[in-house]
Formats: sequence, structure tokens, C-alpha cells
Amino acid sequence: MQISPSILSADFARLADEAAAVPNADWLHVDVMDNHFVPNLTLGLPIVEALLKATSTPIDCHLMIEDPDRWAPAYAEAGAGSVTIHAEAAKAPVRTLRQIRSLGARAGFALNPATDVAPYEDLLGEIDMLLLMTVEPGFGGQRFLDVVLPKIRRARALVNRHGGEVWIQVDGGVAADTIERCAEAGADVFVAGSAVYGAADPRGAVDRLRELAEG
Ligand code: DX5
Ligand code: ZN
Repeated sequence: MQISPSILSADFARLADEAAAVPNADWLHVDVMDNHFVPNLTLGLPIVEALLKATSTPIDCHLMIEDPDRWAPAYAEAGAGSVTIHAEAAKAPVRTLRQIRSLGARAGFALNPATDVAPYEDLLGEIDMLLLMTVEPGFGGQRFLDVVLPKIRRARALVNRHGGEVWIQVDGGVAADTIERCAEAGADVFVAGSAVYGAADPRGAVDRLRELAEG
């Protein structure tokens, strides 16, 4: 069970301190948004490069951008530990996932709440992590969508049948009152933005979420 705090809910003027506030995190989740794939604009490669120098926690880049095929390799090359592209945006996902891996990062593949996992079964050998969005992407602090739970179960069954080591990440509305349902359904990597950075003690929040996920 791994916890990946999302810096979307952190103070963007103090990112190095905010990264240091969660030394017990497995990853730092960085949401790259371009105001085209999603209706919000956040940050890009220069800030990820700066963050990579400022922390030793591995960076988990979630690209919510229209042209991930063009940009994903640059994040891997910069040193991100994991780079995730969206199924709804990638035009050449197999090529892009392979490029991410060949540049030394873990390859992630993300599905919006209404995108089914079954059509991507044959891609499981190309990916290290499947990201199942549990809100519509674009903003932190949204309400968890229970409607995604059956898909988490189906994804877990597919991944187990496939036999490879593919992590299942959930992102959106993951907090103390929803994380157990996600873990029970089969998720093993948990992104939490407001539940970590909205807490008085972010480090304590990470520990608490991990305990709940581990049951
Ligand atoms: C939303 C982002 C999430 C966001 C989650 O599109 O992908 O990573 O930061 O925020 P919370 O945990 O507050 O729902
Ligand atoms: Zn995200």
C-alpha cells in the first residue's frame, strides 16, 4: 500500500517545504494540467525539474494534457519516477508508454471515471500502473465517485489474471472515509491531495491513510 500526496492542494509558493512535510510519503503526486484536456492550468516541466532537485521523494507525474505523446518523454528524461498519460488524450499510447519505460520511469495509464478498462486489457504488459480517476479530473477537493468502485474490482481481476506487476492507483476524493473502500476493491496506490495538505498535520495524515488502507 503506497501513499502519494498530491501537491495540487499544497502551497505552490513553498513546494520544497511542502514536499519535506511528508517524508513518510512513497511518492509526491504532481498534477500537470494544460487548460485543454481539463479546465484548469497548473504547472509544467520547469517546476517539475525544480521539485526534483528539491526533494528525494520520487515524483509521480500525472499528465492531464492534450498532447501527452509529445510531452511525456521529457518528464521521464527529467527524472520523474513515474509518468502517467491519459487514455482519452494519447494518440499513440503504446509508443509513448514504451518511451517512458525506455527512459527509466514507470509507465502509468489513466482512465477517467466513464472510461472502461476492458478495451485496454492487451496493454497491461506495457504499463506499470493503472490510474483510475475517482473524480472527473481537473480540481482537488471534489467528492469521491462511488460509481468507479466496480471498475476498480474489474481492473484488479484483470491485473491478477494478467499476472504482471501492475499497480492500481486511485486519484480523487481519497480520504479517511473513502480509502478503505478503494483498498477493498483492489487499489494499492492512493493519491490524496486535500486529505493530506488540508490537514493540520500532513505527515500524520499520510500515516493515518496508510493504516486505513492496510486495514
Ligand atoms: C484531480 C487531480 C488529483 C487531485 C486530487 O484532477 O488529478 O490528483 O489533486 O485531489 P483530492 O485528493 O483533494 O481529491
Ligand atoms: Zn492527479
